[in-house]
Amino acid sequence: MNVLLVGSGGREHALAWALSASPLLKTLYCAPGNPGIAEHATCVKLDVSDHPAVIAYCREQDIGFVIIGPEAPLVAGLGDALGAASIKYFGPTKAAAQLEGSKGYTKDLCREFGIPTAAYGRFKDAASARAYLANQKLPIVVKADGLAAGKGVIIAQTSAEAEAAIDACFSGAFGAAGAEVVIEEFLEGEEASFFALCDGTTALPLASAQDHKRVGDGDTGPNTGGMGAYSPAPVVTPEIADRVMREIINPTVVAMRQRGTPFKGVLFAGLMITDDGPKLIEYNARFGDPETQVLMMRMKSDLLAALLATADGVLDAFDIRWNDDAALTVVLAASGYPGTPMRGTEIRGLDAASRVAGVEIFHAGTRRDGDRILADGGRVLNVTAIAPTLMEARERAYQAISRIDWPGGFYRKDIAWRALKERGV
Ligand code: AMP
Ligand code: GLY
Repeated sequence: MNVLLVGSGGREHALAWALSASPLLKTLYCAPGNPGIAEHATCVKLDVSDHPAVIAYCREQDIGFVIIGPEAPLVAGLGDALGAASIKYFGPTKAAAQLEGSKGYTKDLCREFGIPTAAYGRFKDAASARAYLANQKLPIVVKADGLAAGKGVIIAQTSAEAEAAIDACFSGAFGAAGAEVVIEEFLEGEEASFFALCDGTTALPLASAQDHKRVGDGDTGPNTGGMGAYSPAPVVTPEIADRVMREIINPTVVAMRQRGTPFKGVLFAGLMITDDGPKLIEYNARFGDPETQVLMMRMKSDLLAALLATADGVLDAFDIRWNDDAALTVVLAASGYPGTPMRGTEIRGLDAASRVAGVEIFHAGTRRDGDRILADGGRVLNVTAIAPTLMEARERAYQAISRIDWPGGFYRKDIAWRALKERGV
């Protein structure tokens, strides 16, 4: 069948790479794609917020399945529009994507269905948010309710910082996303990313993964979209994975059905593994970036078949097999990220780097200028490796990076440090 993949990041490159191996695939199209994705797909400039244009393109190219990568088109209802046009798609409806689109929505659902998460309050004005703050312990977490491109979360160490965060949200620092604010308890523990395909009724967990959110070595500095990831994540033991399914994912699937908005797609739980067990930090309604890059390296089953089974509601009869090897990805970012990244610097040595055994280089923010590859975003490349152990995967990834000549970029030197040092895997 012909498939259209929506998105342009490293996540979509990894998905395109995995999809291209499927015997079910005829032609892969990607809107808009990137120079890396262009190796596997026909890239097309489509305005994906123009739903009729996407539908018209699907009809012209005889596209039988649309896979929606990023959250914005999901929250904007691209899936609903495709469904109404009888075009099969992977991803939640607009209503179900509220699990990512509104933090307050998810917190209320957790409260109603007894899903473990941080204690919280929801506020529509600064005065009531400040009043709630007065009775809370520090540090405390202030979040813009809506989609803020990963920027709307402030961990406040002092009341003054928390008040400044509240004022920033309500004065429009995060646009419409900050019209409502969630204030929540600070959770202590180790973070992990947990993914499950959900077909509205059945949830099928994927392999475990962990990313590094902070920009600097030792997990310091500002938050980013993720500077590297690895799989498996030792913190997600089989016991923890069972608890996550039983206490968090399955109750959410039931809750969404009961609300009349069944969740179909990939449910991405950001977890804190606390001394009391796993707690939900937030939901995303899509694959993680860069976690997907390592998951795709380890997936042995046909990705396209798995995504079709999700859309068709037959996950109960489906199984996913994983390579026992470990995978690791290092994000190469442009100078300035996560602030304003420098654009247009040239990257050399990608061919030599990709010849390191077990290495795939996924493009996240590049553009092609003739024969040259130029940086064109914050997170630019994901140098990803697979090997029998995490240590060897890490060596391969950094060996490949040493072959890349890009003075305009930087990367973390310590991806997977926690797993390697503390847990000795
Ligand atoms: P979010 O966008 O909600 O995933 O938050 C971004 C990051 O902020 C998370 O990955 C955590 O590192 C941190 N964070 C968010 N909420 C909490 C919380 N309640 N307790 C501790 N850290 C948090
Ligand atoms: N890596 C975290 C995310 O995709 O939001």
